[in-house]
Amino acid sequence: MTPTDRPSVPAEPAVRPHIYDGIREYDQRLPNWWLLTFYGAIVFAVAYWSLTQHFRTSTDGERVTAALARVEAAKLASIDTSKLDDAAFWQMSRNPVFLEPGKATYQTLCVSCHLASLKGKHENPAAIGPDLTDDRWIHGGRPLELNHTVTAGVPAKGMITWGPILGPKKIAEVVAYILSYHDPKETPVPEESTAPAIGAPAPIAPAAPQGGAR
Ligand code: HEC
Repeated sequence: MTPTDRPSVPAEPAVRPHIYDGIREYDQRLPNWWLLTFYGAIVFAVAYWSLTQHFRTSTDGERVTAALARVEAAKLASIDTSKLDDAAFWQMSRNPVFLEPGKATYQTLCVSCHLASLKGKHENPAAIGPDLTDDRWIHGGRPLELNHTVTAGVPAKGMITWGPILGPKKIAEVVAYILSYHDPKETPVPEESTAPAIGAPAPIAPAAPQGGAR
């Protein structure tokens, strides 16, 4: 290795013409790692800002509410469904963790008779099931009564006995879904069943009165 092969010592960088308080400044290009960090930070800032401010699907508040709903759901899920009380049902009826599966069950199994609006006969007199959104109930409108009606069914009137088909958890969810159309302050009003008894002959129109019976 001869002295001429040695990497040449870089020339002293140019000095910029200005002097401030006796301080002079080299006219150097900034190192690449520095530039990369600098521009990288700008790109990151723009991307982060637009992601969090413009393309975000839920707000912090919504995420907190959803997290609380999950915590609440975990608490309720640990309760034995046979020990659920009215208050627990009302809580479930405001919690999407139960309402979503409850709605799914309702839409697959109950719509055929109670209709998608839950209004049954009130929306369409040809529907088989009664209205589940009004305050009138044939079998009681308290949460535990609804839970019992759905579990046991009313076989004589065409309401299926869902207990063995769905199990207590799915029934609790679907009851919570029905309750989401109601308010705990509502007073249930008793109502007579208008569903024809299964197997009974179709109601016959009353015969026209036969002349002047007194
Ligand atoms: C085959 C038709 C049919 C299906 C399907 C059906 N129901 Fe019913 N349901 C009825 C009828 C008919 C009644 C009214 C019973 C009576 O008159 O005593 C009823 C009554 C009810 C009641 C009581 C209403 C009251 O006023 O007391 C609830 C609650 C109910 N159904 C929930 C459900 C749920 C939840 C599902 C789905 C899991 C469901 N039903 C599926 C026919 C049906």
